[in-house]
Amino acid sequence: MIQRLICCILVFSTIIDQNRIICQNEVSYLQNPILNILMQTAAPNYTPRNPGDLFDILRDTYTLPNGLKSPLQEYDYIIVGAGSAGCVLAARLSEDPGVTVLVLEAGRPENFFTDAPGIAPFFQRTEYAWPYYMEPQPGVCLGMINQRCYWPRGRSVGGTSTINYMIYTRGRPEEWDRIAAAGNYGWNYEEVLKYYMKSERAILNGYENSPYRGRDGEMNIEFINFRTPLIEAFLEAGRILGSPTIDYNSPEQLGFGYVQTHTRNGKRLSAAKAFLRPNKRRSNLHILPSTTVTRVLINKRIKTAYGVQYTRNRLSYKVRARREVILSAGPIASPQLLMLSGVGPKNHLQSHGIPVIQNLPVGRTLYDHITYVGLMFTINATNVGVNENRDATLRNVLEWLQFGDNVVSSPGGVEGIGYIKTPLSNQQDRIPDIELISLGGALTADGGPSGSKAVRRGMMISEELFDQAFGAIDNQEAWSVFPMLLHPKSVGYLELRNRNPFNYPLLYGNYLTHRIDVATLIASIRYVQALTATPPFQRFGARLHRADFPTCRGLVYDSDEYWECALRTLTVTLHHQIATCRMGPATDPLAVVDPELRVYGINNLRVADSSVIPRTVSVHTHAPAVMIGEKAADMIKASWN
Ligand SMILES: Cc1cc2nc3c(=O)[nH]c(=O)nc-3n(C[C@H](O)[C@H](O)[C@H](O)COP(=O)(O)OP(=O)(O)OC[C@H]3O[C@@H](n4cnc5c(N)ncnc54)[C@H](O)[C@@H]3O)c2cc1C
Ligand SMILES: *[C@@H]1O[C@H](CO)[C@@H](O)[C@H](O)[C@H]1NC(C)=O
Repeated sequence: MIQRLICCILVFSTIIDQNRIICQNEVSYLQNPILNILMQTAAPNYTPRNPGDLFDILRDTYTLPNGLKSPLQEYDYIIVGAGSAGCVLAARLSEDPGVTVLVLEAGRPENFFTDAPGIAPFFQRTEYAWPYYMEPQPGVCLGMINQRCYWPRGRSVGGTSTINYMIYTRGRPEEWDRIAAAGNYGWNYEEVLKYYMKSERAILNGYENSPYRGRDGEMNIEFINFRTPLIEAFLEAGRILGSPTIDYNSPEQLGFGYVQTHTRNGKRLSAAKAFLRPNKRRSNLHILPSTTVTRVLINKRIKTAYGVQYTRNRLSYKVRARREVILSAGPIASPQLLMLSGVGPKNHLQSHGIPVIQNLPVGRTLYDHITYVGLMFTINATNVGVNENRDATLRNVLEWLQFGDNVVSSPGGVEGIGYIKTPLSNQQDRIPDIELISLGGALTADGGPSGSKAVRRGMMISEELFDQAFGAIDNQEAWSVFPMLLHPKSVGYLELRNRNPFNYPLLYGNYLTHRIDVATLIASIRYVQALTATPPFQRFGARLHRADFPTCRGLVYDSDEYWECALRTLTVTLHHQIATCRMGPATDPLAVVDPELRVYGINNLRVADSSVIPRTVSVHTHAPAVMIGEKAADMIKASWN
């Protein structure tokens, strides 16, 4: 065991040291011969040419209890997908030893590597991600490989919380209140706050007495113990421009704050680790990884779901649900599964030869949060920001393993968040239109010419374009900020590609199709320019790097036209796709599920994941998904008691 652990540490440091991404479709090779020998002795499956199952190292396991070789024929509840929502839902439903719960998850359990927040960007192109792409859209994502936006989603026990950046956000009270006011009873801020707090164990220095923070839950929320001086400049500059430094999740006011993360002692705390792992010995909770659900079984005559069909080791099986089937497969797979099962837009299903059981606007609404990743400011200090070359050392890894408090615990370099209202937002409310994400470095801080380029590769940015625009500051000391567009007016949708459950749906982002979305992002760039003109940033001599995009030649630098072009070049998603199984009252023509998350027109079928969020909220969507799982568990228990 110890030998395995040491070997892991070495592999891990080698991954970074040698600057190679370990991933399915990119052959990696570790160059240090001594490490290679060590690896081969300790990990029998390993060869330098074929890292093979590197991901098997210290992989968590989920086996059926009581020596069962295969699952039962029938369960009370079947949950599809062990993601942010599915894990907590499974944990709560199986609290009652009198009911049986089956969780089916397409991905495999997480392992040693996913624990390290610092390498979060690596996983977007590994077996831990569904490699979805947005359909080509003229005028956006121009700087991406093949001009396609990449929409990875988590595929593992833990779902997207296994590969995300761990940023913890809840949204503004007014945003949940207006969701409730639209007819979604039970979803006002006071009610959702109860569920946020239920899962939470807040360990936030300075906010110990906050009445809004949970203390007894399973999901630790902490400040990252590692900080660069750049975050202090960000917060101080914010204060100068009128934004107080606060717990940004507090309902009272808008402001800036240190990032809060779902981590435990500086290590990733996925939904699986928080909720599933501690309960995996429950004899009534059966968890099947590497199992892909292909269809919900619905009795057409009585419009009642009675089980699911799934594929495991290439064989197809059916399993029955006595009470309910709950889809927690996320915003892309949950609507896909509904449509494959005959629940969706009538004409669309018919065009693919799928018999229609219930006509519903599944997939017709899709919101997302996008950002521009090219705001990089050079600074004149040395050894300040996160930098791959400097940070990737065995010493750092060992120290992180022991104490969890150095750069390896930094969630992809994110250090702080600020909520602002640009002049384009409604001045009557306290709903921000932009979130600023402050990084302790920039996309260029990845080790120079031979660096891993993990972040930009995760975003699938074209190397050639990136080098033209940012090559001049490659590996230089820099600060960077991502402005996230919180309430886009542009709305996307998704459709089935075909009726093969193993093919991915067609995803349409419709980014920046509404003028005001472009204008709001440009306004946020103007705000950032003012922010960096303040003394805290000027002490660092912060200067916006002039990116020379081949796509924007001929435009006057720093004009609105230039920035629009820049946005359209480096249009990057922050992976918050929502609303594809929109929640709404019966009167809402776009609703797929009711406020108790029951699919309209079908008995015993619910959707509980981020796909039900009906409209944009100022959040990163992990915490809301967990909250939805918590709330769904209570609603389900209430309907069967
Ligand atoms: C790169 C990245 C970074 C992110 N960073 C943050 C962040 O910092 N903070 C934050 O709050 N949010 C972040 N997010 C978003 C957030 O993590 C997700 O919105 C959230 O985890 C979604 O939860 P969910 O329960 O809706 O679905 P998921 O967690 O995606 O769970 C769905 C699960 O269902 C499984 N599944 C799908 N289809 C099937 C099938 N047919 N059969 C069986 N299983 C199936 C999937 O494999 C997956 O495990 C990020 C997302 C990404 C991709
Ligand atoms: C950085 O630039 C600022 C502004 O020009 C200057 O005041 C400061 O002394 C410089 N710092 C270093 C380390 O050069």
